[in-house]
Amino acid sequence: MTRTAIRGDLLDLTADPGLTATSPAGVRFDTDHWLLIDGGRIVGRQPEAPGEGWTHIDHAGRLVMPGFIDTHVHMPQLEVIASHGAELLDWLNTYTFPAETRFADPDVSRAGAALFADALLAHGTTAAVVFPTVHKVSAEAMFEAAAARGMRCISGKVLMNRHAPPGLLDDVEQAEADCQDLINRWHGRERQAFALTVRFAPCSTREQLAMAGRLLASRPDLYMQTHVAENRAEVAWAAELFPEARSYLDVYHRHGLLGPRAVLAHGIWLDDADRALLAATGAQIAHCPSSNLFLGSGLIGWQALVDAGAAVTLASDVGGGTSLSMPRTLAEAYKVQALNGLKLSAWALLHAATRGAAQALHLDHEIGTLQPGCMADVTVWDWAVGPVAAQRDARAASLHERFFAWLTLADDRNLAQTFVAGHSRHLRTTEPR
Ligand code: GUN
Ligand code: ZN
Repeated sequence: MTRTAIRGDLLDLTADPGLTATSPAGVRFDTDHWLLIDGGRIVGRQPEAPGEGWTHIDHAGRLVMPGFIDTHVHMPQLEVIASHGAELLDWLNTYTFPAETRFADPDVSRAGAALFADALLAHGTTAAVVFPTVHKVSAEAMFEAAAARGMRCISGKVLMNRHAPPGLLDDVEQAEADCQDLINRWHGRERQAFALTVRFAPCSTREQLAMAGRLLASRPDLYMQTHVAENRAEVAWAAELFPEARSYLDVYHRHGLLGPRAVLAHGIWLDDADRALLAATGAQIAHCPSSNLFLGSGLIGWQALVDAGAAVTLASDVGGGTSLSMPRTLAEAYKVQALNGLKLSAWALLHAATRGAAQALHLDHEIGTLQPGCMADVTVWDWAVGPVAAQRDARAASLHERFFAWLTLADDRNLAQTFVAGHSRHLRTTEPR
């Protein structure tokens, strides 16, 4: 197996930096070092170039970080990104459901999943929690595309048996059989893991939610992903459909769907009891700032979630979100909290999209840092692209200032190279301007 060394400014986090400290413990920054990779894993770092037997990849002067983790993104929605003029429920009916219907076709699913996986890598995201569509073939295509690229992927066929067009509906029995088959063939195979993927409570009957809960109870190592409390009309609709539940989140709890491997997108319109329930069950909120702004959904209270002890990770939520780029997502998250009067540090934002996400997914032994033993999912970035960013970068008086300016200004043009398990999976071929 080849041994590879990557030269650059190595940056990762070894501890939770909290929300606002600009000089916390646990920021590990080694200017001009070589990151050593052997057998697809990180094995160390050193200031001098390793000798014979190593392939040298010289990115001197560039930023080298763990690949980003996107904890909520929709594979079939690339084609509806940037669709005008709707809030959530209209947006689903007008744009998203028609687009997803086409993924019944295996060729559409395979082409869509390949495009999506390559696009993630071209944005510096090496691990993701992914919604495909209701069609089993779309989950299959997603796992195949991720496995072909060696990527860590958590996904599963979407469960939805009501309140959508006929081409997007399953039934409980067939859905259970499809999930079981996907679990048998994909869960724990290389870097793939299965998630019971409940679209959202309004699209599933009680029987379907109960089936998902049963499967989850039978295999505690399975994940669960869904949406919750994103939009006020959606919350009101969930309350109408499930009058017996204390809250929208409680619908999932009643069906045994909350646990330490549950990833719930949004969670804007939760109350104190909901936040306590998240903390008690270990479920995480995947905060999707660009989506929340674009669809006019609302401004999440990050501080309240952390105060309650709930985990918060960051996600693009493309196609409701407007970019697959996690630096863009971090920058939007900063602005959302600025509107709440909270000034998140760059370290808090980075943590939520790397080490913190890995911990919340129980994958911190594998992803999220440049720690020896972790898989070599590594991204290499220009500190600045263009004269304005270059001037801002040169003016930075501290590492925090420099990195905050980077995340505020960077996008996929800054990305020079992406490695997955030590293999180069994206290489920028033209110099950015
Ligand atoms: N709620 C149910 N489905 C969706 C979806 O596809 N995107 C978003 N943002 N919210 C949802
Ligand atoms: Zn979503």
